[in-house]
Amino acid sequence: MRHLIDPMDLSVQEIQEMLDLSNDIIANKDKYSEVCKGKKLATLFFEPSTRTRLSFEAAMMELGGNVLGFSSADSSSATKGESVHDTVQVVGCYADVIAMRHPKEGAPLLASLKSPVPIINAGDGGHYHPTQTLTDLLTIQREKGRLGNMTIGFCGDLKFGRTVHSLIKALSRYENIRYILISPKELQVPDYIRTEVFENNNIPYQQVESMDEVIGELDVLYMTRVQRERFFNEADYIRLKDTYILDTKKLKNAKEDLSILHPLPRVNEISTKVDDDPRACYFRQALNGKYVRMALIMKLLGLEVE
Ligand code: CP
Repeated sequence: MRHLIDPMDLSVQEIQEMLDLSNDIIANKDKYSEVCKGKKLATLFFEPSTRTRLSFEAAMMELGGNVLGFSSADSSSATKGESVHDTVQVVGCYADVIAMRHPKEGAPLLASLKSPVPIINAGDGGHYHPTQTLTDLLTIQREKGRLGNMTIGFCGDLKFGRTVHSLIKALSRYENIRYILISPKELQVPDYIRTEVFENNNIPYQQVESMDEVIGELDVLYMTRVQRERFFNEADYIRLKDTYILDTKKLKNAKEDLSILHPLPRVNEISTKVDDDPRACYFRQALNGKYVRMALIMKLLGLEVE
């Protein structure tokens, strides 16, 4: 039985197979409409979500399966003190695969140790978000036609942004990527990403505070929201939240074929005027999330279509 807890749980070859399957699903939706008939996905979301939970549910429905679950810890027996171990052992009696989001880092990993069915980490605290990573990889590959040979800028809250940590880790296995990390000093990537990913693999990276000085060099710009829910101090959040706002003026200095990604939700960090720019990929990215989750559900359930 396979789980997806960490972005490195899948090999580069398995990721490519999943992206290929996602592209085939996009091109031939009808072919996959019954592949999960009789199967159930449980979405256990102990933390809020719009895209991840609903795209998982839409993914299972479009595969012909069914969904059950809860969208907040408050409506589950976690409020009575039930552990994630017990929760997944019980939900594993009702469902064939579980997608779990939890505010505590490592909770889906703990769950996977006891679960009778595959566990998918749908985001654990400020740690990892591997299905967002699959979404981002599919989007980069569809937009740029490649996953290596590019300069990518990560901008915003690189300290608490789990999508950033996951994507940097996954991209570290592709060739010739230049990383430019754009953040205030307080929101730089955590030490474990710097040492485990960049330094241990001799991957060069640049840390800057100004978006203006590097925007013209980027092939991909990965914008992120400042993660209010992870701050200990509201005053720090208010001081930092609008450090970067991507607008049409800033984009004048960017490449014509820049791809702008954002895992969403957006707060202020991308002006809505940018949405009409063909370089804005973030709503296409959200749609890709449904297709790549369809491919992931099929893989974890060992299902194929001839
Ligand atoms: N990108 C993402 O994880 O969005 P949600 O928090 O809405 O699921």
